[in-house]
Amino acid sequence: MCGVVGYVGRRPVLDILVKGLKRLEYRGYDSAGVAYFDSDKLKVEKSEGKLVNVEKLLAGIAPKGLQLGIGHTRWATHGKPTTQNAHPHRTGHVVLVHNGIIENYLEIKADLKKKGYEPASETDSELFGFLVLDKMKSGKKLVESVRESFKLLHGFCSVVVMSEQEPGKFVAVRNGTPLVAAVDPQGGAFLASDAQALLEYTKEMIFLEDGDVLVGDESGIHISTLASTKDAGRKAVTLNWSADKMDKQGFEHYMLKEIMEQPMTMVDTLNSLLDRARTDPFPLAEQPGVEVLRSAKEFILAACGTSWHASLLGKYWLERWGGVPANIEYSSELRYRDPVLRAGAVLIGTSQSGETADTLAIIKEMRKRGVPTVSITNVRGSTISRESNYGFFTSAGPEFSVAATKSFLAQALVFFLWAGHLGLRRSKDIASQVQVIFDQLIKLPHLLESMLKPDGVMVRACEEAAKKFQNAKGFFFIGRGYSFPIALEGALKLKEVAYVHSEGYAAGELKHGPIAMIDKEMVTIVLVPQDSLYEKTVSNLQELKARGSKIIGIGNAGDEKVKKDCDVWIPIPVKSADKDFDESLYPFLLVPAVQLFSYYMAKLKGTDVDQPRNLAKSVTVE
Ligand code: F6R
Repeated sequence: MCGVVGYVGRRPVLDILVKGLKRLEYRGYDSAGVAYFDSDKLKVEKSEGKLVNVEKLLAGIAPKGLQLGIGHTRWATHGKPTTQNAHPHRTGHVVLVHNGIIENYLEIKADLKKKGYEPASETDSELFGFLVLDKMKSGKKLVESVRESFKLLHGFCSVVVMSEQEPGKFVAVRNGTPLVAAVDPQGGAFLASDAQALLEYTKEMIFLEDGDVLVGDESGIHISTLASTKDAGRKAVTLNWSADKMDKQGFEHYMLKEIMEQPMTMVDTLNSLLDRARTDPFPLAEQPGVEVLRSAKEFILAACGTSWHASLLGKYWLERWGGVPANIEYSSELRYRDPVLRAGAVLIGTSQSGETADTLAIIKEMRKRGVPTVSITNVRGSTISRESNYGFFTSAGPEFSVAATKSFLAQALVFFLWAGHLGLRRSKDIASQVQVIFDQLIKLPHLLESMLKPDGVMVRACEEAAKKFQNAKGFFFIGRGYSFPIALEGALKLKEVAYVHSEGYAAGELKHGPIAMIDKEMVTIVLVPQDSLYEKTVSNLQELKARGSKIIGIGNAGDEKVKKDCDVWIPIPVKSADKDFDESLYPFLLVPAVQLFSYYMAKLKGTDVDQPRNLAKSVTVE
């Protein structure tokens, strides 16, 4: 959740720390700070609030000597978001940043107090500095002290530590929360909790493993483990993300940019997963894991939040095309249940960040129980991709908006490709249906592109809908079949970025209770594409309208029948006359509409669109 950056070398350290933290500010952003050496003296600057407050404190400072420092953006867990609780924490000659939770912090605090140490903050993190200080007092070196202190911690976290007694290096340990390191081609070392912070310097990254101990100094990177001082033999991987994808490129917000990037996201993800040299439909490129998917007797789909919604779509497609039972689970629930596991079950853990604690935990648990685990992540080298038996990747590129948009579409696409691929093997009849769908699928990026023209009718209608209903009391998103997961996703997006109460429902469920809330101040967003459940959804729309709800309809262009019953109509670029368009593809066209509506609502409400309150991009605590 917190962002961590470190640098040692010859480049201006404060520039690197601040730039890196800016790239990570989307992760956690209630306070920030940096610690750096200036002629072998340690300095700390930190502040509550956004990074810009720290930038002000650093204005005009140019540290002398070897450039060495660490920085942090915080997402508070223990103690309020105050300057006192902000990282780095300094304890005597030791300074540290920390990401994650020290579960036994009360015990550690009590022991430290007995030894006469008095922590200044309310955090669990600060305690680690005292542990290191205590070990160094007894004559141990920094690395040894960090290694021994870390072994006393329970819970998942990573730390980065420096000491004025041993200038010239930082020492880091990873256990459960991510750390990635890179050698500076100009001499020295980079460290960060997320590769995005380092991409503009190098694409060769070393993803640390749990239990790794890293020393970064002018000569580069040295990685051993908590168990052994021997070289751990970690190898660098090359990331294919380009640094230019990391700027807003003229868009007002990352969220808007990332929504608009979805046609390319689709193309990139198709290209990366398919072997387009082959002519069969759904020509899934052979990679480890494909065979496991083919032989699965049952899928268990585990994820959180938006990734859960993508998995729900996955369930519908895997069942329809693949003919394989697929059970959908919240990772946070499944990990504490005792599920009945049948032979042939395969767990699929989906996570854009690849770091979500609950999804990671269930992957580890299922592996332990002998269930093959497959992951879908957007980050090569992420913990989930490494901990699962087989890692598949979306090619959404870096996503900075905390609200997931393009990564959702890419995850959904991976499921779609798998389902289509499995369908080919079922029967002649399904295989020929799948062929038709594949031909439509590869045209979808063009349709999406036409729909997402900034001044196009769909985009304008989303904006108009937001303007018209910006002061509504509350929103329901409803849909049936493939539209239901999109209804859930729309409601989540609106809550997240506009802070407006909204709920997603299966259209048929509304009358079982929630319809009591409907009056003229409520708005229902009805996802009503012309699929096999269309007539039923239209009836639900009528029921709501009759009870006074305002209606925003999202459906086929030219569907005049439904349009006239809606207060605002958002058309998707499939004509209502086009009866051949396969209904399983509608989610790809519906989701940008609910994303854009939420985006414009957030803008009108004046919220912090890319960094909504209380959220974090990468949820590495349970
Ligand atoms: C919503 C959102 C969250 C994440 C959830 C899981 O916009 O981003 O609901 O989907 O926290 O995160 P990942 O996909 O990284 O496991």
